[in-house]
Amino acid sequence: MAPLSATLAPLIMGTATFNSQYNADPYALPTTELVHRALNSGIRAFDTSPYYGPAEELLGRALDTDFVRTNYPRDSYHLLTKVGRIAASSFDYSPAWVRQSVRRSLRRLHTTYLDAVYCHDVEFVSPAEVLAAVRELRRLRDTDGSVRHVGISGYPVDVLCDLAELILRETGEPLDIVMSYANFTLQNTRLRSRALPRLVAAGVDVVPNASPLGMGLLRRRGVPIGGMGDFHPAPDALRDAIHAADQLADANGDKLEVVAIRFALESWLRDGAPVGALGPPLARAPHSDPGFLSVATMGTGERLGVSVIGVSTVDELAETLRVWHSIVDGLENRNDDDDVDVDNEKTSPQDTMPTTLTPSDGLITDRAWSRSRKSHILDLTTQIQSVLGPKWVDYVWASPGPDFVNSLPADHLAALEKAGDVDKSVDALPLAPAAATAAAANAMVTPPMEAVDQGQRDPMEAAPASITL
Ligand SMILES: NC(=O)c1ccc[n+]([C@@H]2O[C@H](COP(=O)([O-])OP(=O)(O)OC[C@H]3O[C@@H](n4cnc5c(N)ncnc54)[C@H](OP(=O)(O)O)[C@@H]3O)[C@@H](O)[C@H]2O)c1
Repeated sequence: MAPLSATLAPLIMGTATFNSQYNADPYALPTTELVHRALNSGIRAFDTSPYYGPAEELLGRALDTDFVRTNYPRDSYHLLTKVGRIAASSFDYSPAWVRQSVRRSLRRLHTTYLDAVYCHDVEFVSPAEVLAAVRELRRLRDTDGSVRHVGISGYPVDVLCDLAELILRETGEPLDIVMSYANFTLQNTRLRSRALPRLVAAGVDVVPNASPLGMGLLRRRGVPIGGMGDFHPAPDALRDAIHAADQLADANGDKLEVVAIRFALESWLRDGAPVGALGPPLARAPHSDPGFLSVATMGTGERLGVSVIGVSTVDELAETLRVWHSIVDGLENRNDDDDVDVDNEKTSPQDTMPTTLTPSDGLITDRAWSRSRKSHILDLTTQIQSVLGPKWVDYVWASPGPDFVNSLPADHLAALEKAGDVDKSVDALPLAPAAATAAAANAMVTPPMEAVDQGQRDPMEAAPASITL
């Protein structure tokens, strides 16, 4: 199997937003439209988790359409999901649950294989549990091919590094992928400063940076308030400091979220390159001119750091993609420095152009615009970090919180026991994914999406009262 970095693209669309944590009613979101627009715009990777309420099903519904089957065959995009986190304070990393969870994800996503499966939020369980889950995922990879690459995700970067090192030591094989979230943002860049050297040394193939907005913290309208109320772990004083940063961005004619998205995505493209991927930043549209060559659709031939974005609306997707396109424009002809001193990261007098001048005015090339914007954003980032001050730059919240106790609901244990019978019969099957997923479907407890409402949903999948993502 080729390494994940050989084909993964540097922009992944996350689906944590397809859940009541971020939104009052995830079923009311235009999730199918978002997925289809993402594919049409050149995004070819989706991140999800069984922990994100109905997100896997909503993503699966969007993919299980004639539109996607006709235009985007399964091997044209990557699906990344997770195992092990059941609810806010419920984790099951047992090999039996790992198997069941993978089968359920296959069924919900209407696929025969998962490009990558993470152990979700590893800091909440013991290293031994993580090791056992990783071994089981690799066993699935090696025996039935339902999992292609194996990794871990979580928040505290030191824990991620410790585990990456431990897994290499214990198994002799490095992790394919380690995802950190909210650790390479305007506010906190520990992923680069503390984690990157250790993860590279531990042989990790890809390190995606998730949550460029710090789970929605770094934006004008403040943290997202969904159906579960205010879940965000940032303390009030940090939120106040972010508000001051927003006013600074505003005074510079920018929106905080746009600065934050651009800083994280653009800087990680370069800084995360040692653990980046080779896929093109934006895939070609099915009917595009094959003769048109661009780094956007061909890649630069070098690794680019991978980011995971999260959006809830068509406008947010459009805004994020607008920023992404402009970042990618800056990759074109990187060695052609007729108007930019690339080596010294200095830009030409274009730098001083007003930020409202756009390429569509015809007065500046896309590439020069992108370079100018990059310089402006880096300058603004420095100013924003001085507004945040030493107290909040690189501040991290506790994960898990002090009150955390892992407790598995009785329903989960009952479902696991019940599924055990099916597990044996499924294991006895030869590699026949459709049959396997159908069998697993009977064992799983998620009703068809059309039938779901808050009252009917299975308690294992219902939104937990409080969440630490
Ligand atoms: N433990 C883990 O494994 C883990 C943890 C975190 C993230 N992830 C993955 O990474 C993905 C990205 O993380 P995230 O969703 O937290 O990303 P994020 O970018 O930090 O935050 C997303 C939030 O920002 C808002 N937003 C996005 N674009 C915006 C824009 N242009 N203007 C204003 N607001 C905007 C969204 O809006 P709304 O208010 O409209 O929802 C949403 O609330 C997740 O979906 C998930 O797949 C994984």
